[in-house]
Amino acid sequence: MDYKKLIAERISEVTKTDAEKIENLLEIPPRPEMGDYAFPCFSLAKELKKAPPQIAAEIAEKTDREGFEEIKVMGPYLNFFLDKAKFTGDTVKEVLEKGKDFGKSGSGEKRTVLLDYSSPNVAKPFSVALLFTTALGNSLYRLFNFEDYNAVGINHLGDYGTQFGKQIYAFEQWGDEKALEEDPIKELLRTYVKFHKVEEEDPSLTDKAREHFKNLEEGKEYEYNLWKKFRDLSVKEFDRVYKRLGIKFDSIKGEAFYSDIMQPVIEEIKEKNLLTDSQDAKVVDLTEYNMPPAIILKSDGSSIYTTRDVTAAIYRKKTYDFYKNIYVVGNPQALHFKQVFKILELMGYEWAKDCVHVGFGLVKFQGMQFSTREGKIFFLEELLDLAEETVRKIIEEKNPDLENKKETAEIVGKGGILFFYLKNSREKDINFVLEDVLNFDGETGPYVQYTYARGKSILRKYGEPENYDLSLLKEKEEFELAKNLSGFNAAILSAIEKYEPSQVTRYVLETAKTFNKFYNNINIGNSEEELKKARLMLVKAACQVISNALYLLGIETVERM
Ligand code: ARG
Repeated sequence: MDYKKLIAERISEVTKTDAEKIENLLEIPPRPEMGDYAFPCFSLAKELKKAPPQIAAEIAEKTDREGFEEIKVMGPYLNFFLDKAKFTGDTVKEVLEKGKDFGKSGSGEKRTVLLDYSSPNVAKPFSVALLFTTALGNSLYRLFNFEDYNAVGINHLGDYGTQFGKQIYAFEQWGDEKALEEDPIKELLRTYVKFHKVEEEDPSLTDKAREHFKNLEEGKEYEYNLWKKFRDLSVKEFDRVYKRLGIKFDSIKGEAFYSDIMQPVIEEIKEKNLLTDSQDAKVVDLTEYNMPPAIILKSDGSSIYTTRDVTAAIYRKKTYDFYKNIYVVGNPQALHFKQVFKILELMGYEWAKDCVHVGFGLVKFQGMQFSTREGKIFFLEELLDLAEETVRKIIEEKNPDLENKKETAEIVGKGGILFFYLKNSREKDINFVLEDVLNFDGETGPYVQYTYARGKSILRKYGEPENYDLSLLKEKEEFELAKNLSGFNAAILSAIEKYEPSQVTRYVLETAKTFNKFYNNINIGNSEEELKKARLMLVKAACQVISNALYLLGIETVERM
């Protein structure tokens, strides 16, 4: 039951004003003694030509009180106190009826939303830094789909650019075929790092790499074959990580794909008089918009990242006719996307306004930062292994008899890491300290997962009743838990509006805390038989909501831990 809507409808009936407007004006009072919802009557004073306290008194007198303990005038405010037992019962009933769909309001109305995320660079490791876009994008993908948008997950592989000239030269000089087969990324990385070292002393390498890239652009067989091999091997490696994280894409297209179809777009930019000469390069001048010029063609005639992104956006509009086109990419690329969107706008595409850059901060590990060029890398798979091992040790201690310790530790370990990446607002930098991330008692993934498993164990112990009377749930702790559960959809809508999965992370932490308070203060096992049954159903509802919320964050639950 949506009480906000109900209150709005009742007020609108009495005052003959717009219900939706009233719903938006309803507030949640800061203290419980002020009720559960408050309506600021001064917002209607002008329209009704009456003083706010008078409006409050009139509504209080005429409103149907069903579902409320009290409706009280407090100065210019009208405060609503819910009938707590009814509210708790209604909420639990709704959660149990809707199950996996609880929390959904269908606001997406099937509109198509593209999400470009993860998008790793071929021949580069899947590092811990790359997990930020991957975790955020995957969560947004699930959130949009859950709310009935038609979300399309796009992996825009970095499979093109001058670095492939370097990679080809490096592998040709120092590469080992056998090592490449065994551990492709490590071998590609080793040779790539070597290239940069040697290049420092011998600048002629730069030209040699450029030559290879030029050949690649012209489609010469030797370069093309090596490039294809690096790409195929890399994609296979990435797939293993995605599988481990339970992440899927609807479309995987690399920059090379757009490079092949960008000629008409370059022509179009030229025809629309946007292309100017700057030294030997062709650029779109953006001085008027306080941005540096965007290079479209370099002096040697080759294209760059920007050109391919402009091409990709036009291609995506034609292919998907999107409502929103979202890029989940780190903040260092903010200017790049501003330029791309501006170019699209200047080309006359009114849908440029529907393109969104969702940025995020940096990832540091115990203060360290990483760089592919210098070979300072922390492979994500290594981190996942480490997390699994750490959690397994904790479980050995806490619950030595548990079966499938390894599988459980894997789910809890990776869940903990994902949770940590999604815990704070995305613009903030992340400083990763593994012990904090996996602490069972902090504001962590394992804490929430543990709470879920605890709920499940109570249900196993006492069994799930078939008949029960939810109107018996009258305790404060029960009401508070129900109130939290009823706020799930609001958290989802806010996460979607702000592109912030942290809204859901924060929400589910609150659910877990409220659940534990209920669990610690109320002795379920010793309750009178009928009351126990009702309480078990509240436990079941809380477990349902926790698992729905974790799903939206890309995290699985375990039944025992
Ligand atoms: N491969 C790029 C990088 O690692 C990210 C690509 C993001 N998506 C895009 N359409 N530009 O920096």
